[in-house]
Amino acid sequence: MAKKGAETCSWTLSMFMLLFLINLPALYGEELESLLPFRDSIKDPLGFLSNWSSSTSSCNWPGITCDNPPHVKRIELSGKNISGKISGSIFQLQYVEFIDLSDNQLLGEIPHNLFSCPSLLSLNLSNNNISGPLPSISISRLETLDLSNNMLSGKIPDNIGLLWSLKFLDLGGNILVGKIPNSISNLTVLQVFTLASNKLVGQIPGEIGRMKNLKWIYLGYNNLSDEIPKEIGDLTSLNHLDLVYNNLSGLIPSSLGNLTSLQYLFLYKNKLTGPIPRSLFNLKKLVSLDLSDNSLSGEIPELISELQNLEILHLFSNNLTGKIPAALASLPRLQVLQLWSNKLSGKIPEDLGRRNNLTIVDLSSNFLVGKIPKSLCNSGRLFKLILFSNSLQGEIPQSLSSCISLRRVRIQNNRLSGDLSSEFTKLPLVYFLDISGNNLSGRIDVQKWDMPSLEMLSLAKNKIFGELPGSFGSGKLQNLDLSENQFSGNIPKSFGRLSDLMLLQLSENKLSGNIPEELSSCKKLVSLDLSHNHLSGNIPISLAELPALGQLDLSANQLSGEIPPNLGRIESLGEVNISHNHFNGRLPSTGAFLAINASAVAGNDLCGGDASSGLPPCKSLKSRMWWYVMTCFLVALAMFALAALVILFIQRREELELKRVENEDGILWEMQFFDSRASKSITVDDILSSAKQENVIMRDGKERSYGGKSSMSNMQFVVKEMNDPNSIPPSFWSVIPEFGRLRHPNIIRLIGVCRSTERGFLVYGNAEGKNLSEILGNLSWERRRKIAIGIAKALHFLHGYCSPSVLVGIISPEKVLVDGKDEARLSLDLSGRLACTDNKCLQIIPSACIAPGT
Ligand SMILES: *[C@@H]1O[C@H](CO)[C@@H](O)[C@H](O)[C@H]1NC(C)=O
Ligand SMILES: *[C@@H]1O[C@H](CO)[C@@H](O)[C@H](O)[C@H]1NC(C)=O
Ligand SMILES: *[C@@H]1O[C@H](CO)[C@@H](O)[C@H](O)[C@H]1NC(C)=O
Ligand SMILES: *[C@@H]1O[C@H](CO)[C@@H](O)[C@H](O)[C@H]1NC(C)=O
Ligand SMILES: *[C@@H]1O[C@H](CO)[C@@H](O)[C@H](O)[C@H]1NC(C)=O
Ligand SMILES: *[C@@H]1O[C@H](CO)[C@@H](O)[C@H](O)[C@H]1NC(C)=O
Ligand SMILES: *[C@@H]1O[C@H](CO)[C@@H](O)[C@H](O)[C@H]1NC(C)=O
Ligand SMILES: *[C@@H]1O[C@H](CO)[C@@H](O)[C@H](O)[C@H]1NC(C)=O
Ligand SMILES: *[C@@H]1O[C@H](CO)[C@@H](O)[C@H](O)[C@H]1NC(C)=O
Ligand SMILES: *[C@@H]1O[C@H](CO)[C@@H](O)[C@H](O)[C@H]1NC(C)=O
Ligand SMILES: *[C@@H]1O[C@H](CO)[C@@H](O)[C@H](O)[C@H]1NC(C)=O
Ligand SMILES: *[C@@H]1O[C@H](CO)[C@@H](O)[C@H](O)[C@H]1NC(C)=O
Repeated sequence: MAKKGAETCSWTLSMFMLLFLINLPALYGEELESLLPFRDSIKDPLGFLSNWSSSTSSCNWPGITCDNPPHVKRIELSGKNISGKISGSIFQLQYVEFIDLSDNQLLGEIPHNLFSCPSLLSLNLSNNNISGPLPSISISRLETLDLSNNMLSGKIPDNIGLLWSLKFLDLGGNILVGKIPNSISNLTVLQVFTLASNKLVGQIPGEIGRMKNLKWIYLGYNNLSDEIPKEIGDLTSLNHLDLVYNNLSGLIPSSLGNLTSLQYLFLYKNKLTGPIPRSLFNLKKLVSLDLSDNSLSGEIPELISELQNLEILHLFSNNLTGKIPAALASLPRLQVLQLWSNKLSGKIPEDLGRRNNLTIVDLSSNFLVGKIPKSLCNSGRLFKLILFSNSLQGEIPQSLSSCISLRRVRIQNNRLSGDLSSEFTKLPLVYFLDISGNNLSGRIDVQKWDMPSLEMLSLAKNKIFGELPGSFGSGKLQNLDLSENQFSGNIPKSFGRLSDLMLLQLSENKLSGNIPEELSSCKKLVSLDLSHNHLSGNIPISLAELPALGQLDLSANQLSGEIPPNLGRIESLGEVNISHNHFNGRLPSTGAFLAINASAVAGNDLCGGDASSGLPPCKSLKSRMWWYVMTCFLVALAMFALAALVILFIQRREELELKRVENEDGILWEMQFFDSRASKSITVDDILSSAKQENVIMRDGKERSYGGKSSMSNMQFVVKEMNDPNSIPPSFWSVIPEFGRLRHPNIIRLIGVCRSTERGFLVYGNAEGKNLSEILGNLSWERRRKIAIGIAKALHFLHGYCSPSVLVGIISPEKVLVDGKDEARLSLDLSGRLACTDNKCLQIIPSACIAPGT
């Protein structure tokens, strides 16, 4: 008994000493009480907090740092994939100075007692999903507050000035509204000030001029309006000023010239007017100056020579006039020069590039004359050279032929002349080369073409003659336009090896011989234009094997024979023109030949077709022997066939036109399909029954896409319900069929629209697969790569080859479907908000979409 008592006693004693040693009263008492509720409110799938147990000292817990005497000083749980709400208890810790919970999935509101945490110096909650308003503010020692990239809403509290110790404030990437409060100017020790990407309106307060320690101002991507306050010029420590994507108007204040420490000045995408103030050229430390997308006028002064540190100069999309200053050529660090879409005239400075470090030069869409300077590529780094739509003359300088860094060259629509030199056709990295609409002459079949990266080549509208080269040294060519030249000879059979080719335009040349059968190996061909040449022979039957062919123009040649009926069975074929040849026999009456325009078949010896073809009916059998015997039978048969044809024709016409259907609830629906299979098999009821919560396969903001299946044919489709279809301007509905013609293996194809007065749906085909956002987490590198390439191809097609570019909006994994073979398909945002602005819809005409744009 006594023994037992002694044991208990010594145990208690040692326990007491232990408690004493590690100062447990403080920890076990208050700090544990603050940390455990925090732990309990957090979900922790990776188990990082599993060792936060009350049996060990919290100073040994992962993510916790204590000082001596042991008090919790720092809590670092960034990027631990924790979720759930933040318990206010952690702001009761009396000694904590540093809390970093960034890069997690925390949600809910910020605890209201944040600013009463007595010792807190730094709080980082960025990159979570925290919502609600900012907590009410009281005086605090806080020096760093990073709440960026959450879902915080409401206004910035008027008394934010009470956080007078702040050196770093980032509230960017939230949904804050209202004005920037004047009291912000009481944050006089603030160095970094970011409110970018919110929904703030009103003026930038002039009081900002009192915040003398500011180094960074980043207020871009809001709706701030009025003038830029001249007081910003008082912030002489400023290094970085970014006010982009706002609604700022008026002049650029000349006081900005006082910001002698400034390295980055970004004012693009505003409504600024007037000249570039001369004082800006005092900013000798400027590295990057971007005033693009405003309405600035006047000249670019030669004073620009003062900016000896300048690397990037973006003044594009303004109203600037006068010459490009020769002084630009003296800026030793200049890498990127983009002055496109202004009214600049005169010559490009002759020695531009000689002493610069150029990588990108874009002077397109101005009124420039004279020659392309020889020295542009002296840096050896020039990869983008864009000079289209000017009046440049002379030859392409020899020096560019040795500019092996070049990747993208767009010098179309000028007056360039001379030959393509034999070095120019060996540039190894060029993937996009457009020299169309110039005055090039000479041959291109005598030099060797070795451009392994080439995807797009246009030499259209020049005076090039001789034969077509058999190869361009690239297996990646997607887009080849050699139309409107003086090429002669045959179309090389070797073009059949261009397995990525989507567009081939050889029209308006002097090509002769047959259409090579090998072209049918170009399985991705979407558009084939051989019109206005001297081609002869038959149409190869194998052309009907092209699975994606959408447009076929063989007009104005000397082709003969019959039209292969299979041509009328290419599902994708939308437009065909065979006019002005020597074709005879019967016109197919299916597919693209249905309701064909008379001008697309005229000038042949054809018969048949429907009324719109304007062709005479075909003569019936000629056999005299059987004439009498067969007459009755034939008449009957003919009538029967005619009736069948008429029915078929009416059906087909109806299918592709607008259908009006009343469903069971008596609601009138308008449906229009751009795909004959869909037209036959998808009904309003199919669409309505797919539009249910359980069928959601994609989400994009408030919009939902659903997977559906035709009840008649099991054809799968995807429907996207449009928000508020009544607010969509009527012109949208007339443009939308054009999207139906956009075809690319990596784009989800629009196959129809369906709407009533209340609801509207877009119907898509080839949309099988999983949403990328769902599978993104566990993809191997290889699969990611394949998917990324697919998306890139789609974008490349939409942006690079469409004129105007088709707007895709912001690309997010939610907009991408991935099929079983990891082929990615991009969904276009046709919801009406992006494609249509100011009650007008962009006239996006897909036929212009595969021609090289300007
Ligand atoms: C938790 O503690 C155990 C045993 O001390 C240790 O092996 C483990 O690594 C700890 N876990 C974390 C996440 O620190
Ligand atoms: C993070 O948590 C989310 C769910 O909250 C889970 O889907 C994801 O796989 C987790 N990431 C890691 C790396 O564990
Ligand atoms: C906050 O955390 C994010 C993500 O971990 C980090 O990028 C950022 O620099 C941090 N903010 C500050 C002020 O340290
Ligand atoms: C973020 O929170 C909002 C509600 O505030 C919720 O609708 C949304 O799904 C959350 N997003 C993520 C990625 O958790
Ligand atoms: C700035 O703080 C002072 C007191 O420190 C206060 O009187 C003044 O009203 C504040 N300024 C603004 C604009 O809130
Ligand atoms: C700015 O305001 C306009 C008109 O109210 C609105 O359409 C636009 O989305 C706003 N932009 C931002 C970034 O909030
Ligand atoms: C943009 O600024 C103009 C005046 O410059 C103003 O009339 C308009 O309301 C502002 N738009 C927004 C969305 O703030
Ligand atoms: C600031 O700029 C304005 C206008 O350019 C000028 O009048 C003023 O003297 C400058 N102040 C300083 C301190 O340089
Ligand atoms: C550009 O300047 C011209 C006069 O030089 C003027 O008529 C036109 O409105 C200006 N355009 C813009 C967008 O400021
Ligand atoms: C030229 O640009 C490259 C980066 O493209 C850079 O590394 C190099 O230092 C620059 N040279 C000069 C003289 O600025
Ligand atoms: C095009 O080049 C020819 C000589 O090849 C020349 O006679 C003609 O004037 C040039 N045309 C233009 C518009 O420069
Ligand atoms: C077909 O081609 C001819 C000659 O190129 C042209 O005049 C006619 O307008 C074209 N028809 C259609 C419907 O494109």
